[in-house]
Amino acid sequence: MASIRTQVGIVGAGPAGLTLAHLLHRRGVESVVVENRSREYVQERVRAGVLEQGTVDLFVATGVGERLQREGLVHRGIELRFAHRGHRIDLDDLTGGKTITIYGQNRVIEDLTNARIAAGGRIFFAAEEVRIGGFDDGGAPVIRFRADGEPVELQCDFIAGCDGFHGVCRPSMPAGSLTAFERQYPFGWLGILAEVAPSMDELIYSRHERGFALHSMRSPQITRLYLQVAPDEEISNWPDERIWEELQRRFETVDGFTLNRGPVIQKGITPMHSFVVEPMQYGKLFLAGDAAHIVPPTGAKGLNLAIADVRVLARAFIEYYRSGARERLERYSEICLRRVWKVQRFSWWMTSMLHRFGDENAFDERRQLAELDYVTSSRAASQSLAENYVGLPMED
Ligand code: FAD
Ligand code: PHB
Repeated sequence: MASIRTQVGIVGAGPAGLTLAHLLHRRGVESVVVENRSREYVQERVRAGVLEQGTVDLFVATGVGERLQREGLVHRGIELRFAHRGHRIDLDDLTGGKTITIYGQNRVIEDLTNARIAAGGRIFFAAEEVRIGGFDDGGAPVIRFRADGEPVELQCDFIAGCDGFHGVCRPSMPAGSLTAFERQYPFGWLGILAEVAPSMDELIYSRHERGFALHSMRSPQITRLYLQVAPDEEISNWPDERIWEELQRRFETVDGFTLNRGPVIQKGITPMHSFVVEPMQYGKLFLAGDAAHIVPPTGAKGLNLAIADVRVLARAFIEYYRSGARERLERYSEICLRRVWKVQRFSWWMTSMLHRFGDENAFDERRQLAELDYVTSSRAASQSLAENYVGLPMED
């Protein structure tokens, strides 16, 4: 059996795990990343596309923002479409110059992976039977797995559980040490990537009697589109033609708007879920990103929240290795959860304002439209949406 040692053992090579490894390396803290999927799988998975201003600033400031700055699409506004009209939320003007950047999560992963490997960082891809142990307060943390069929034991001072919602770290915590808070939504999103130019140069969030739809993009040649569907919907019920027809209906509420169509290169259905565990730590194990919380994607926050967590965690580890002080590590969960709950609130609110819930009566429908009317006609209300959408400031 191979036995290796590092300071921080990281489970998961998603945005949280790779960013943590990168931030630690820059300050001289060693880590090893253990990922159960192949490098190709992780890099090709189609997920988030919207980076907050603070996320972009962090990547640029730490030397992994070169391609992001070259190829990312800076957006200064978004459109909310409802009741046969489009209303622009001017993010730039409402936030004193902040914007968002469209850049696929798979590119973020590729940039971070390349940077780690170029810096001599160790990432075990396609690791099998990943297990963690020894993370009680007085214990010796260990991550066990198989690499190329051979057992490996990775000993470390701390474990960072960055292994997403379905990972091993959260379920390894002792029963009763965590409290979960959650909400399921009575719908999911059917998402497609299409090889066609976007139909508008900004995102469109459309509330429609038939359900929500979102127009987004990945590049000037690739459009990303989403449709609200039933949570248990089968993708096989949605041939491409049906998807295009339904999208066209949900966007065409504005006169003269036509959706560009092109070959569909990827499609899938994602359920909608809000979830938080408290606390996000136990002994020498710290959860970050989707391992600790899930938001519905309507606010475009999941990836950004994962990055916010690991910023806090990296700083706490760096402080510990520099001075031996554990104070920031002990406050990790408390610091993160303040932001997590504000982002949960925003994601729930955007979701509630834009989707059909199926059990609404005529009152609920009028109230939802009044909310959209208010948000798009009051500067104070638009400003509240904008400051959350571009990302709340990082706090200590
Ligand atoms: P993950 O990306 O899930 O990474 C966890 C990693 O751990 C994975 O690579 C996984 O393979 C690995 N892993 C799992 N189990 C194990 C194990 N047992 N051992 C080792 N490794 C393991 N967020 C936004 O901010 N903006 C958006 O626009 C947006 N849109 C989205 C659209 C869709 C369709 C979806 C599904 C999500 C979207 N999100 C969005 C959410 C965002 O993708 C996630 O919040 C983000 O990926 C979280 O990063 P993470 O590193 O915490 O977790
Ligand atoms: C995306 O481009 O994938 C995207 C954009 C905005 C969202 C969610 C997803 O709110």
